[in-house]
Amino acid sequence: MTGTSTSETRQRIYLDHAATGWPKPPEVYEAMDRFARQVGASAGRGAYRSASIADEIVASCRRRLARLVNHSSPQNVAFFSNGTTALNAAVFGVVGDGDHVITTAIEHNSLLRPLHWLEKHRGIELDVVPCDESGRVDPAAVAGRLRPTTRLVAISHASNVTGAVQDVAAIGGLIRSGETLLLCDAAQTLGYLPIDMQASGIDMLAAPGHKGACGPLGTGMLALSDKAAARIRPTLFGGTGSISQQLDMPTGMPGMLEAGNLNVTAIAGWDAGLAWLTSQDQSAARDDQRRTASRLRQVTAAIAGARAITGDDLPLVSLIFDAVDVGMVATLLDTEFGIEVRSGLHCAALIHDFIAAEPRGTPSQGTLRISGGHGTTLDEIDRLGEALQEIATELQLG
Ligand SMILES: Cc1ncc(COP(=O)(O)O)c(C=O)c1O
Repeated sequence: MTGTSTSETRQRIYLDHAATGWPKPPEVYEAMDRFARQVGASAGRGAYRSASIADEIVASCRRRLARLVNHSSPQNVAFFSNGTTALNAAVFGVVGDGDHVITTAIEHNSLLRPLHWLEKHRGIELDVVPCDESGRVDPAAVAGRLRPTTRLVAISHASNVTGAVQDVAAIGGLIRSGETLLLCDAAQTLGYLPIDMQASGIDMLAAPGHKGACGPLGTGMLALSDKAAARIRPTLFGGTGSISQQLDMPTGMPGMLEAGNLNVTAIAGWDAGLAWLTSQDQSAARDDQRRTASRLRQVTAAIAGARAITGDDLPLVSLIFDAVDVGMVATLLDTEFGIEVRSGLHCAALIHDFIAAEPRGTPSQGTLRISGGHGTTLDEIDRLGEALQEIATELQLG
């Protein structure tokens, strides 16, 4: 293949932003380096100068996050080490034995596995709402499963397999009972699409910081409405730097969810990443994103032997190959062309039954997922298209 390059000449084209964003804005690396070398103190524990700097960085990042999701109270934003730990805190913190919970087929295992565990071991009744072939869920179908006893509706803002964006505001509007909390997993959209917790009726918003929100790996957050903050129980116990004479966890946010030292180095990077993100012209950034998504759809629509699945809204496309192993295509893209994408099931256990042509329940080899992010260029997308064409020709697909 003509794309072969040596390690010296190899240029890296990173198209796995749905897994984690890379590279980060330079400010992120600088802030982390500065904090680690010059400050390095714990947050929420000491009263000396560097500890106060750490406190201020954490407070600043909470404020930026609250603003980003239109939440009036930064104190209701708790930090976690990724999206998974935030989702676990939300699910185990509000769901009780025997509760009725609604979720959907598009979810990531970081939501499905805790819910499945509660179904198996705590007798919750779990309703899983299906999606269409692009990974979109009908809000009316979610509403149709609501019962007076429903305690939680848990749905992703966008599928990490197809990029389909869900109408979370419509779902929020259909929930009538004050006993039902709406949990939104914004892993694929925080930093890419506007999110308004209040207008969408979201009670709990969980997200990693390390994807579109420009934080480093090791960051995540859970933002709670006052209603959710009043209902949630801590699921991790330990030191919080407050009321240390007491054996119970603090009852107020964010301390009740933040046992143990925070990763302030990562939070310093995230704070700088959010500052960069919000300093960008949002409408120009959204236009860029649409252009990238449209070019990605265009170049992947014409690959012989492959079917492209996308929700159209984000620069994320999944390709299903009938005659060739997707892992092999991913490896060829990497080794021959320096293009990094992901193959497989993408930690989403259920969606593949709905997007693939095979009969339900047929084991799927998954998809080749191509995902752009901040900084992805049209030239990179074109080079991906050319590489895929070349691979399809070489392997005589189609
Ligand atoms: C939709 C979705 N939810 C949750 C997660 C989990 O995030 P993390 O890997 O930060 O735990 C991911 C990560 O890929 C995701 O795509």
